[in-house]
Amino acid sequence: MKYPSKVKLVDVGPRDGLQNEKGEVPAAVKIELIHRLQDAGLTEIEVTSFVSPKWVPQMADNAEVMAGIHRKPGVRYSVLVPNMKGLEAALASKPDEIVVFGAASEKFSQRNINCSIAESIERFAPVVEAARAKGVFVRSAISTAVGCPYEGDVAPERVEMVARLFKEIGVQHCGVADTIGVGTPRRVQAAMEAALKHFAIDDVSGHFHDTYGQALPNTLACLEMGIWQFDSSVAGLGGCPYAKGATGNVATEDVVYMLHGMGIDTGIDLDRLIDAGKFISDFLQRKPNSRAATAILNKRAG
Ligand code: HMG
Ligand code: MG
Repeated sequence: MKYPSKVKLVDVGPRDGLQNEKGEVPAAVKIELIHRLQDAGLTEIEVTSFVSPKWVPQMADNAEVMAGIHRKPGVRYSVLVPNMKGLEAALASKPDEIVVFGAASEKFSQRNINCSIAESIERFAPVVEAARAKGVFVRSAISTAVGCPYEGDVAPERVEMVARLFKEIGVQHCGVADTIGVGTPRRVQAAMEAALKHFAIDDVSGHFHDTYGQALPNTLACLEMGIWQFDSSVAGLGGCPYAKGATGNVATEDVVYMLHGMGIDTGIDLDRLIDAGKFISDFLQRKPNSRAATAILNKRAG
C-alpha cells in the first residue's frame, strides 16, 4: 500500500467547531486559538463564516476576528460564504480563500441555507465568479455526502451531480463532507470517487465528523486512494447547528498522531497542537474531545 508522503490539514475548529457553541466565545479567544494553531504549524485555518447572524449568531464577530489575526506568511485563512452579501463582507476582510457550501441532499440544503440545491448553485455562481476575479481561491464543501439527518443514506450519484455543478461554475476545490459522521470506509470511498469524476486528486479533500467513531478509518480509506487533504478540528470541537446529534469533526490531534505514526509529514508540532486544544477546552470548561490529546495530557500529568 502506498500512502501520500505529505498531508495537508485544514483546521476548521474556529469555524465549524465554534459555530456550534451555546455559550459566547469572545473574538479575542478565537483569535488566540488561531494564533496557537498557526504557531503549531497549521498552514490553513478556517477562521469564520460570513453567514446571516440570525442563522448563526456565533459567527457574527467574523470581521472582528479576521481583523484581529496576526497573519503568518505561508498560512492561508479561509471563510465560508453563502451568498453575494456574504462575499462582499468577506472580501473586506481579505481572506485567502472562500468556501461555498452546498449539500448532496435536498432537505439539508433547505434547512442549512434555505434553498434547493439548484437554487444554491445559481446563488453561488456569481459569488465564485466575483471571488475569482479578485484572485481569491474558491473551495467548496458538499455536505451530507454519505448521509443526511433528514433523508438518510445519500447515493454517490448525488455527490457526483453536485461536484459537477460546482465544477461548472468555476469552483477550484471540492471538499466531501460527512456532516453527521455516519460514513464507513467503503461508502466514503464511493463518495470520493464520485467527486473525483470532476475534480483532480489534488483538488479534493475529506471532511469527517466523528459521530460514530469512523473518521480515522475514513481518513485512512482516503489516503489509500491518494487523497492527501483533510479538514479536522482542534480538540474535536463542533458540529453543525442544522444537523442535530452530530458531533464535532475528527480531532486534528488524532489525525496528526495517526499520520506521524505512519511516517506521513504534516508540518505540525503535535505538542503545540495539544496545547492549543487544551487552551480552547479550558476556556469551554471541558476536556478535549480527542483520544490522542487525552492520552498525551495524562502522560504529561503523570
Ligand atoms: P435567508 O433567510 O433565506 O436569506 O437565509 P435572506 O437573503 O432572505 O436574508 C435574511 C436576512 O439575513 C436579511 O436580513 C439579510 O440581510 C441577512 P434582514 O433584512 O432580515 O435584516 N443576510 C445576511 N447577513 C449577513 N451575512 C450574510 C447574509 N445573507 C443574508 N451573508 C442564508 C439564507 C444563506 C443567508 C442563511 O440560510 C444562512 O446564513 N445560512 C448559513 C447556515 C450556516 O452557516 N450553517 C453552518 C455552516 S455549513 C456546515 O457547517 C457544514 C460544513 O462544515 C460541511 C459539513 O460538515 O457538512 C461546511
Ligand atoms: Mg462540518
